[in-house]
Amino acid sequence: MSDPELYPVPSEWAQRARMTKAGYEAARVAAHERPDAFWSEQARRLDWFSPPTDIKDVSFDKADFHIRWFANGELNVAWNCLDRHLETRGDETAIIWEGDEPTQSGKLTYRELHAEVCRMANVLKGLGVAKGDRVTIYLPMIPAAAVAMLACARIGAIHSVVFGGFSPDSLAGRIEDCGSKVVITADEGLRGGKRVPLKANVDAALEKVSVDKVLIVSHTNAHIPIVEGRDVRYGEAKHGVDDDCPCEPMNAEDPLFILYTSGSTGKPKGVLHTTGGYLFWAAWTHELVFDYRPGEVFWCTADVGWVTGHSYCVYGPLANGATTLMFEGVPNYPDSSRFWQVVDKHRVEIFYTAPTALRALMREGDGPVKATSRESLRLLGTVGEPINPEAWRWYHEVVGEGRCPIVDTWWQTETGGVLVSPLPGATDLKPGSATKPLPGVELELVDADGTVLEGAASGNLVITDSWPGQMRTVWGDHQRFFDTYFSAYPGKYFTGDGCRRDEDGYYWITGRVDDVINVSGHRMGTAEVESALVLHDVVAEAAVVGFPHDIKGQGIYAYVTLNVGIEPSEELRRDLVAHVRKEIGPIAAPDVIQWAPGLPKTRSGKIMRRILRKIAENDVGALGDTSTLADPAVVDDLVRNRAGA
Ligand code: WT7
Repeated sequence: MSDPELYPVPSEWAQRARMTKAGYEAARVAAHERPDAFWSEQARRLDWFSPPTDIKDVSFDKADFHIRWFANGELNVAWNCLDRHLETRGDETAIIWEGDEPTQSGKLTYRELHAEVCRMANVLKGLGVAKGDRVTIYLPMIPAAAVAMLACARIGAIHSVVFGGFSPDSLAGRIEDCGSKVVITADEGLRGGKRVPLKANVDAALEKVSVDKVLIVSHTNAHIPIVEGRDVRYGEAKHGVDDDCPCEPMNAEDPLFILYTSGSTGKPKGVLHTTGGYLFWAAWTHELVFDYRPGEVFWCTADVGWVTGHSYCVYGPLANGATTLMFEGVPNYPDSSRFWQVVDKHRVEIFYTAPTALRALMREGDGPVKATSRESLRLLGTVGEPINPEAWRWYHEVVGEGRCPIVDTWWQTETGGVLVSPLPGATDLKPGSATKPLPGVELELVDADGTVLEGAASGNLVITDSWPGQMRTVWGDHQRFFDTYFSAYPGKYFTGDGCRRDEDGYYWITGRVDDVINVSGHRMGTAEVESALVLHDVVAEAAVVGFPHDIKGQGIYAYVTLNVGIEPSEELRRDLVAHVRKEIGPIAAPDVIQWAPGLPKTRSGKIMRRILRKIAENDVGALGDTSTLADPAVVDDLVRNRAGA
């Protein structure tokens, strides 16, 4: 049976796209059969101080585990994103900034951005930052965030961007884990008309860990306390510094950044990406997947605190000399027309967002979309979670008026950039499918025992060979890198996702198969939420699972066992939710808390999450085998008292 719904490549696209059907097939074969020749040719898109001759040097095997790409090449990321464009497009717009309020916006040309990056690089040097040092960036979606990232890259410092929605505790943990010398922040951020107290959060974080300096960009001009000797105002520090700063020559395998992401166990991992392979992958995929053409305005709505913002707000577009739009606000402020108003205001050609945002907007009806023109749009994209066909069709018909192909891009923080996606001129679309792997991406489906599944099948998604944008290690814990990704199926990278492949070879991601929840396209580890809950005085034990949520994709469902003598109440429930928000951040706040006098455990004491998931999903008819439970009565109680999720 094949899927009835197929959207063929429109004929204009088939003719003029950067990659056509034939081109895609040829590139897949070339990347597979002659990887060194293929990637060395493709990597010429970057400007190398010393071009690589060693191209691919990889083994996923335990005995000889290593991943290196372009290993004897030398380059600098800021040079590639700025300096090399000055002659050809110095006066073209690099960044369009749209503020939280529709009245606030601005533009920076490549020349202006270059000068600003040089100034910040020189300020950082003045604060003692040198090649290899770590710098934490905790900023709102303002051009200074891109400036800070590129300033680090320019001098060879490793940045760690922390999303502004994370709590002081989460920030402190990330500063400590990578040993940052400096934090770059702003007085405040703005989101949906509300102020985000970034500097105050940094102050709170620095009660737990210490750094040499805090560099503060002013954004709202709020009054903020200054700690003498530690805090430096960027607006003052930049006066008198040179607006030129040489680029540090970096080896392709030198670290570029660390980005923390949640896993199935333990604390968030510091995913490390390196200079050559990462930048290449961000730039190559940005051009290929989005069919980017010079002069076009590209808008990725993600925050730079996530990998999507790294690769498709900053590095990919700027390496390609594109005009990238940075938006500080939210989709429904001042009203639910905002995205489309911004599209019209800045004549956006390519628009890339998350299914959760589309579902939330779809609920408001077609009116807010139709109140705008959107005539500039020519391509739409989604990322972060599976898109339900209903939302896909709404995006295609209402937002894109049937004119714009949709690229549903599957990838992960670990992959650096898109791995599975339609190419708009080469792939017929099926709503809800990320379709096919990019050239050089070798996918397999395996069952739990590692048996490779052929043809149409469902299983766990693994990748059998490396690609340049692959992460290189977990900061400070190389063993954890190997164990997390390469031990489940020896010799293969395990994505953590379940997936179906149909008879046309199209891939349909079904979601995480580990203890990771995908909340509004953001990853949350169940273990992290559980740790936060048990930190509360009244909590004896907690177990957290995901459940289907109309807008967020998945919601967070927490089973909480209270200490003896503590009575559950609505007030306590609110208190626990507030506690998790404070410990981790608003994205980790449980949607549902069910009081659980006991949790279903095996006789050896292991919590049976499978059962908890079923109850949370309200699929209690299919609890499966409960005979190994120490106390089966626990389950009856949980089912009877299931929270009305
Ligand atoms: C997980 C990675 C990559 C940027 C944003 C998320 C899920 C991502 C898709 C998609 C279905 C998707 C996967 C993946 N995911 N894109 N197009 N279709 N699922 O990055 O936080 O590292 O999360 O997001 O489950 O493993 P991340």
